[in-house]
Amino acid sequence: MNEIPPFELTRQYKIIGEKVSVAVAEVLKSGRYIGGPTVESFEQQFAAYIGVSECVACNSGTDALYLALRALEIGIGDEVITTPFTFIATAEVITAVGATPVFVDIDAETFNIDVTKIAAAITDKTKAIIPVHLFGQPADMTSLMDIAQTHSLAIIEDCAQATGAEWAGQKVGSISHIGCFSFYPTKNLGACGDGGAVTTNDKNLAASIRMLRDHGKSGYYYHQKTGINSRLDALQAAILAIKLSYLDSWNTQRRQVAANYQELLEPLPGIVIPQEMAGSRAVWNQYTIRLTKDQSNSSDRDQVRAELQQLGIGSMVYYPLPLHLQPVYKDLGYQTSDLKVCEQVCCEVLSLPMFPELTFSEQQQVVYSLKDCLS
Ligand SMILES: Cc1ncc(COP(=O)(O)O)c(C=O)c1O
Repeated sequence: MNEIPPFELTRQYKIIGEKVSVAVAEVLKSGRYIGGPTVESFEQQFAAYIGVSECVACNSGTDALYLALRALEIGIGDEVITTPFTFIATAEVITAVGATPVFVDIDAETFNIDVTKIAAAITDKTKAIIPVHLFGQPADMTSLMDIAQTHSLAIIEDCAQATGAEWAGQKVGSISHIGCFSFYPTKNLGACGDGGAVTTNDKNLAASIRMLRDHGKSGYYYHQKTGINSRLDALQAAILAIKLSYLDSWNTQRRQVAANYQELLEPLPGIVIPQEMAGSRAVWNQYTIRLTKDQSNSSDRDQVRAELQQLGIGSMVYYPLPLHLQPVYKDLGYQTSDLKVCEQVCCEVLSLPMFPELTFSEQQQVVYSLKDCLS
């Protein structure tokens, strides 16, 4: 039997390889390697795809979040509410601008921030909320926008894992003040290296982010602000523009893979499968199940994962330790049991192979193997 990896990029490359080679050669011949028309053209295409007026491309999803916070002038003494169940970058950037992350527990069904618990975490220092559309499932943006309006807070959507997902008919990254995207290779729209983008309808914010991503530059060798170097290179932009035209069909394939898993896994006891929230269109960057049978700690899940690996099935644990209990955040003073749902979920989650080209027979192999490991 073939080994099945958790994600696989070479199948996609076989489909687009020729177009990529042509586009890369054109950029190399052009002599414009950083910024320039290829990057600007991709920014326009991506803004149109997301449904906003402005897109500023940058070097990574991490930088996109950092630049968004900087443009909103969030810094020392401010608090930013976010989820403890996400990749470290979401919180890391809050710390990087000098503000304090405030973690609010998650909803076990969606893995996203529990909007009913946000109000209790708001103080007079709170400036923004960063919801994450985790695993490709949109957070409850209707409730989040209501909370933001009531308390005059900014919302920065972390769309790193959800390019193309929709909430109430609108693409994520177009609903709040700012959307932040990652083009890390395994994302729904992935570059052949690092890349990221910020989307917004606010021209002033976009102008500020454009300046900050290029050393705070307001003219040749004139610097208005302390910025960073976070320019997207033209090779990545050229590749991303090609891939953007395939994104909807790849997301449709991901949705089919998720539907197949749902059908195959539903009868299995001891497994909770992810459900798409009503009114949303998830794009399944990950397909993450919970192993709930006798799961008081992570060792049973880890055992299943190791056995699956022996059967040739790759899987991932996103994420084994919540952010509020990470060593880097011990000074924030959180204790075990502070955010119980998230802590429990971290012991239970297992992400199964998920990529657009995964075949039905491979999915059957994944599920039969999982059945063996659980029996
Ligand atoms: C939820 C989330 N936010 C932010 C990031 C950071 O993106 P990048 O790796 O492009 O810096 C990632 C990347 O894994 C992510 O998954």
